Amino acid sequence: MSVKFTPDSSLDLLFPADLVAPELKAQLHPDVHIRPLASSDYRRGHLDVLSVLTVVTDPGEAAWVAQFNAMRSAASTYYAVVIIDRTTDRIVGAGSVFIERKFLRGLGGVGHIEDIAVDKNQQGKKLGLRIIQALTHISENIGCYKTILNCSDSNIPFYEKCGFQKKENEMAKYA
Ligand code: ACO
Repeated sequence: MSVKFTPDSSLDLLFPADLVAPELKAQLHPDVHIRPLASSDYRRGHLDVLSVLTVVTDPGEAAWVAQFNAMRSAASTYYAVVIIDRTTDRIVGAGSVFIERKFLRGLGGVGHIEDIAVDKNQQGKKLGLRIIQALTHISENIGCYKTILNCSDSNIPFYEKCGFQKKENEMAKYA
């Protein structure tokens, strides 16, 4: 049985699809599509893809949707994108940028890139690069003066390929 790809127009999206740069969509292989996270993406394997990154505890669909709605109600703050395999309508890549508003730099903003993950079988096909380009485009389009992220040493070459430079250090205190 063939799986029907769900077009953006039939989905309830986290933010308007036109914020994802059209030129990026054109650069993707025709079998994949990049778009904002949708309220039904729990069913397309969103958590499965994130599990390549770290431990994911499945909260169940209702709690996942409540989190989606909480993010959407925070205006102009959360921008999560996914890459969909058109042949299966499943998510094969994901990432997000969170917009922090500041009092300094003329009430400037900073984009924080988080939770970049590409399905193990799809790595090495430039999907990670396209996710970073889409998120950086959103951050810069909103007017953020910088876009930053934390990563492991092993991922530094990937982010350098995406145009990022190592700067300063990360500090963390886990609860
Ligand atoms: N070391 C060296 N080069 C790399 C690495 C690496 N670990 N990963 C990718 N690259 C290079 C590729 O070879 C490619 O180079 P090229 O342009 O010369 O061909 C370029 O970077 C772009 O690579 P993509 O194909 O876009 O990478 P991919 O789609 O595999 O995504 C990612 C990279 C996201 C790191 C993926 O491997 C992944 O999901 N890893 C597991 C989860 C993870 O570590 N996520 C990042 C956490 S950090 C954060 O979320 C802010």
